[in-house]
Amino acid sequence: MNTPFSTSRDIPLGPAGAFASVGSTKPAVRAAGVRLAVRDLTMCYENGHTALRSLNLSVSAGEMVVVLGSNGSGKSTFMKCVVGLNRPTAGSVKVAGRDLATLSGEALREARLPLALISQNANLVKRRSVLANVCCGALGRHRTLMSAFGRLPRDEIEPAMSYLDEVGLLHLARQRAGTLSGGQAQRVAVARALAQRPDVLLADEPVASLDPEAADEVMRLLRRLATEDGLAVVCVLHQPELAARYADRLVGLRSGLLEFDRQASDVSSQQIAGLYLAEAS
Ligand SMILES: Nc1ncnc2c1ncn2[C@@H]1O[C@H](COP(=O)(O)OP(=O)(O)O)[C@@H](O)[C@H]1O
Ligand SMILES: [Mg+2]
Repeated sequence: MNTPFSTSRDIPLGPAGAFASVGSTKPAVRAAGVRLAVRDLTMCYENGHTALRSLNLSVSAGEMVVVLGSNGSGKSTFMKCVVGLNRPTAGSVKVAGRDLATLSGEALREARLPLALISQNANLVKRRSVLANVCCGALGRHRTLMSAFGRLPRDEIEPAMSYLDEVGLLHLARQRAGTLSGGQAQRVAVARALAQRPDVLLADEPVASLDPEAADEVMRLLRRLATEDGLAVVCVLHQPELAARYADRLVGLRSGLLEFDRQASDVSSQQIAGLYLAEAS
């Protein structure tokens, strides 16, 4: 894969340990309020399959919402509609007061900048340094500069180091991304998402390929980003016990319909189990 970072030499890394003092540049806590407002979201694919039916969901700054549902219930379709990778058939997706569902081209690209998406696989550029991978998260904000100069402005490097510090991996900044463990790679993916400076962090099964300890670490990190940095976090999980431990609210999806949207402590294990029961017909 060819990225604008043609080599990790693009980034002046300095002597080993040079980042030890980084860490005072934590993002300011964001103002309270609704960050993502989804209304009557419906997604009917071209083959006629309706994957989401009139879904409503609001997520505020500092809140962590976990979406549960069986395979095929529409979780990824929902995430893709929110970030504008799928164009919804009907409904609205409001971020910072703008409805992404009505936008396209450059206007859509700009309006979705406050949204960052993390997937099951970290999708790092393996032969680049960890730091170069994190810097890639800032590309969306520098498109014009990037195409003009083929590289990022140097003033993105220090923030990138602070994001690495935030995920506890500053000491690996110089290491090739291909050498990381699964859990470390996913934490670098979180740092890359932070480099986008999002208000809303979407994570689609971010711990599906991690062992329990690494999964817990990533979930703790997402929780902290909500609580301490004020991000609105929406996370798809397949582990109800992790969901109950970390979420403020649980959302249950079944066949594209919202089954429940409640405080995590108010959701019973029967309600969760009901999401995974086979359809009656
Ligand atoms: N591009 C597509 N075209 C047609 N159907 C799709 C497409 N993507 C997903 N689907 C269908 O939509 C439903 C929801 O899929 P998805 O959102 O991926 O579910 P989940 O993430 O909950 O497993 C599934 O029945 C799936 O087969
Ligand atoms: Mg999915």
